[in-house]
Amino acid sequence: MKILFYTQGISFDPDLQSLSRALPEAEVRHWERGDTGPADFAVVWRPPREFFVGRDDLRAVFNLGAGVDAILGLERAHPGTLPKHTLLVRLEDTGMASQMAEYVTHTVLRYMRRFDEYAHLQALQQWKVLERHPRETFTVGVLGLGVLGAHVAETLSSFGLPVRGFSRSAKKIEGVDCYAGANQFDAFIDKVKVLVNLLPSTPDTDGVLNARTFSKLTRGAYLINVARGAHLVEGDLLEALSSGQVAAATLDVFHHEPLPASHAFWSQSRITITPHCSAEALPDESMWQIAQKIRELTRGGSIGGIVNVEQGY
Ligand code: NAP
Ligand code: GLV
Repeated sequence: MKILFYTQGISFDPDLQSLSRALPEAEVRHWERGDTGPADFAVVWRPPREFFVGRDDLRAVFNLGAGVDAILGLERAHPGTLPKHTLLVRLEDTGMASQMAEYVTHTVLRYMRRFDEYAHLQALQQWKVLERHPRETFTVGVLGLGVLGAHVAETLSSFGLPVRGFSRSAKKIEGVDCYAGANQFDAFIDKVKVLVNLLPSTPDTDGVLNARTFSKLTRGAYLINVARGAHLVEGDLLEALSSGQVAAATLDVFHHEPLPASHAFWSQSRITITPHCSAEALPDESMWQIAQKIRELTRGGSIGGIVNVEQGY
């Protein structure tokens, strides 16, 4: 079995050897431009379009991340890029769900317990107790209840916060008020205090963090975007911040990454920026998961994480 490996520009460090260790029966090679030799499977992060040319032999392409928007973006711009019978498979968790829960929980509690405001008071050498945010109305809304969103919502609910979740299909998650489908979006978003985005980037979801959405939140709401930059209408966030409708935001993902030096977000004291690091796939777990799935497919079995190209995730 032959496997192609392409991971240029990835933030974590998956190495070809760890895939070879997990799957010793395979012959794994790095793909270089011009390599048109046979391959049964591919393990990739943001491959160029050329990678797929003439690759009808590929049984499956394993995306080294949860979000497949880069590959499906190529497919939308150049239909037929993905070979017709090739499965596209994304990572499922591989260490990301717990990291995402840590990142989001930290941010929510920091806002709820007013740590940023206390840091400001400390800088002014002021000893002052601020009014408590009532827990009962501190509603957190989680957009996306998949592998990551469901775990984040459950974790937040374990702190006794009112938690709502939004997905495409109906869900039941203990401690979470679940809403599904576009016609329940307004009920989901109504008076949410902290909005967490964990949707995949698709034509249906891009731009969902916009002026209309912000206007439905509780005044002085908080935004946490840990999914993709394409979800956010940046100008709408800046306006919502200046009107006070949104009090502050933590953003891990951006339209252009790295965030350009001239970008307005850098100088906004009420925006916390992190460099797309809220959850990184663990290299060994990722390779192990991919190896198990390749074995299962080779045996003729079925696997999880297959992307529905039509739906875009
Ligand atoms: P997932 O398991 O595929 O979950 C996606 C969720 O979004 C599902 O609940 C799905 O609903 C829902 N959804 C999709 N389209 C929708 C729509 N139009 N309306 C309502 N709900 C919709 O994905 P995941 O593994 O949780 O990852 C989510 C995203 O997080 C990834 O796509 C990626 O962009 C991002 N991510 C970011 C980082 C980072 O470091 N910042 C790391 C990993 C992932 P159904 O359940 O009904 O299908
Ligand atoms: C990271 O952003 C991922 O999609 O896994």
